[in-house]
Amino acid sequence: VLVDKANYRHFMAKEIHEQPEVIGQTLARYVDIATESVALQQELPFDFNEIGHISITACGTAGYAGHIAKYWFEQLARIPVELDVASEFRYREAPMRKGDLAIFISQSGETADTLAALRYAKSQGLHTLSIVNVLSSTIARESGTVLQTLAGPEIGVASTKAFTCQLVVLAALAVAAGKARGELSESDDIDLVRALIEIPRLVTAALASEPQIEKLARDIAKSRDVLYLGRGTSFPLALEGALKLKEISYIHAEGYAAGELKHGPIALVDESVPVIVIAPSDRVFEKTISNMQEVAARGGKIILITDARGAAEASTESLATIVLPQMGATFTSIVYAIPVQLLAYHTAILMGTDVDQPRNLAKSVTVE
Ligand code: G6P
Repeated sequence: VLVDKANYRHFMAKEIHEQPEVIGQTLARYVDIATESVALQQELPFDFNEIGHISITACGTAGYAGHIAKYWFEQLARIPVELDVASEFRYREAPMRKGDLAIFISQSGETADTLAALRYAKSQGLHTLSIVNVLSSTIARESGTVLQTLAGPEIGVASTKAFTCQLVVLAALAVAAGKARGELSESDDIDLVRALIEIPRLVTAALASEPQIEKLARDIAKSRDVLYLGRGTSFPLALEGALKLKEISYIHAEGYAAGELKHGPIALVDESVPVIVIAPSDRVFEKTISNMQEVAARGGKIILITDARGAAEASTESLATIVLPQMGATFTSIVYAIPVQLLAYHTAILMGTDVDQPRNLAKSVTVE
């Protein structure tokens, strides 16, 4: 496929900005907008009522999408989820129960470790479902069920639009599972689907934070280490934020569950360490903010990503607040991914790295 950068300086910038559109396309595939209900467009070859456990396996950014989905499947469908990086899973000889569900997430559909994990799960008699962007890929061909992300070709090595589209598919699947298992009332179901339908608009609004983020990137670019903190689904997003920054700017970054701060990473905090706090005003907001205050007390430079309610409540001594639109709590990670991607992108620009082709990295890792 021939793809160009349109008017963007890098594929990554183009792909970040395409998100309202490709998320909308992916949503339109899995959600019936007219009836406000999930419609996966295919009969699943298993019944969610018979699934005792879900195992999710992937690599890199796709793995963090899986980590976020763990919260959704557990909360919305009450199905316990085990999450593995594919390279560990393939040699772990994990005991698996025949008839359970194994989910694989891959942009390329060719990642060697993820493919090996899929083959192992099949050999153990599990139902296999993959979420892939490339429909002609090996993982798609070998999976019992395929749910495609309609992100379009992703050229930048650092995954952006594939990640948010993976989240959209996983969200729709978790709602379908919750519904099938009777864990969601009719009104919960409609509220969740409405929340999904709102996402393209919210992502567009989040993109408007770009000029502010461009300025904040100047501080990040001067740093040696950066910490990302979050709770709930903002925790895997913190991991993804740190990955994105190190991949393309080569600045060392770590993502942590905000509650783990005092168990180690707080030792790193001083005036020179920016701390990115991802905290939508959800039910763990207060807890995250108290962790943020521990950082502030040690002189850490804070960038708080929140909404208007959160910004008012946090009344910060923080360096900066990025304010995103107010939204329901369940799917915030899809929208909060945007400033996280933009921060990595603009920092990398200042560092003068090869944003679309960072050193030592490959778009698709087809060897072990
Ligand atoms: C490589 C890429 C990452 C990607 C990972 C998994 O490391 O650089 O951006 O997240 O592979 O790739 P996949 O195609 O399986 O999603």
